[in-house]
Amino acid sequence: MDSWKGSASALCRYARLGGTFHASLLLALFVGVWYSQALEVSVGKVHYVEAVNGSTVLLPCTYSSCIGIKNLYFNWQYNDNGTMEKLCEAVIPIEGVDPHVRVYHERVEYVGTSKQNNISILLWNITYSDEGEYTCFARNPKEKNRNHSAIFTLIVVDELKVIDNTLTVIILSVVGGIIGLIILVMVMRALIQLIMRKVQEKNKECLVSSSGIDNTENGLSGAKAETKATPKA
Ligand SMILES: *[C@@H]1O[C@H](CO)[C@@H](O)[C@H](O)[C@H]1NC(C)=O
Ligand SMILES: *[C@@H]1O[C@H](CO)[C@@H](O)[C@H](O)[C@H]1NC(C)=O
Ligand SMILES: *[C@@H]1O[C@H](CO)[C@@H](O)[C@H](O)[C@H]1NC(C)=O
Ligand SMILES: *[C@@H]1O[C@H](CO)[C@@H](O)[C@H](O)[C@H]1NC(C)=O
Ligand SMILES: *[C@@H]1O[C@H](CO)[C@@H](O)[C@H](O)[C@H]1NC(C)=O
Repeated sequence: MDSWKGSASALCRYARLGGTFHASLLLALFVGVWYSQALEVSVGKVHYVEAVNGSTVLLPCTYSSCIGIKNLYFNWQYNDNGTMEKLCEAVIPIEGVDPHVRVYHERVEYVGTSKQNNISILLWNITYSDEGEYTCFARNPKEKNRNHSAIFTLIVVDELKVIDNTLTVIILSVVGGIIGLIILVMVMRALIQLIMRKVQEKNKECLVSSSGIDNTENGLSGAKAETKATPKA
């Protein structure tokens, strides 16, 4: 959506430039894209939400327009097994002005804000019968009443799903724990081997140093004798 916004605003800029400099060329170039991107309605990158029965969900929708809006009409509809049930509708007079929204559904609340081109709604206390497709529809009279819409899908799930999740979490943590244990054992083994090797090396060193100095019984005192002997010499 962001990259789309980027390209759209770039288009707007080009179009404005075109208006001043070489309108005809740019018009010819962008006329197709221009019309398709004049108004865009979006429900975001993710077109669905999974929500637990009884919870309250946000049905997101935003619009954007290069040429600006005037008396933008929008509504939300629920596809009730083929028949479209209108949940709410409103007209946004000009950009940045919050509309007076008529709500036809007792559990729908309009939470949009025109300052952010946001025409989202909340659906309170959902049940399984609320599952399905919600259409965010918008029409901008500035562009010959072309229709724009985006569909958001609501999936209602049971608490069971959460239990499933905790089960997978448990399984994953058990597997993770086992892997961790194996790694720990391997690290310990490597460490022990390292220590053993160090001890063996020290023993060898001791043998060498003790062989160098005749009058010592063990490696440690031998090394001491050596360091003491050096300044004397
Ligand atoms: C869904 O939730 C409602 C109220 O939160 C409850 O009355 C209903 O029994 C639940 N349905 C199921 C299938 O769990
Ligand atoms: C939806 O409509 C189909 C026929 O169009 C019908 O067979 C089905 O029972 C309906 N489902 C519900 C939940 O009303
Ligand atoms: C949602 O459910 C709660 C508790 O069941 C209730 O207090 C609240 O009024 C409900 N909200 C709507 C919009 O129905
Ligand atoms: C639209 O407004 C709602 C409620 O204020 C908010 O939760 C949501 O994040 C907004 N969406 C965008 C795309 O700004
Ligand atoms: C736009 O949608 C309206 C219903 O809201 C419909 O009557 C009209 O024919 C549609 N226009 C186009 C061009 O699809």
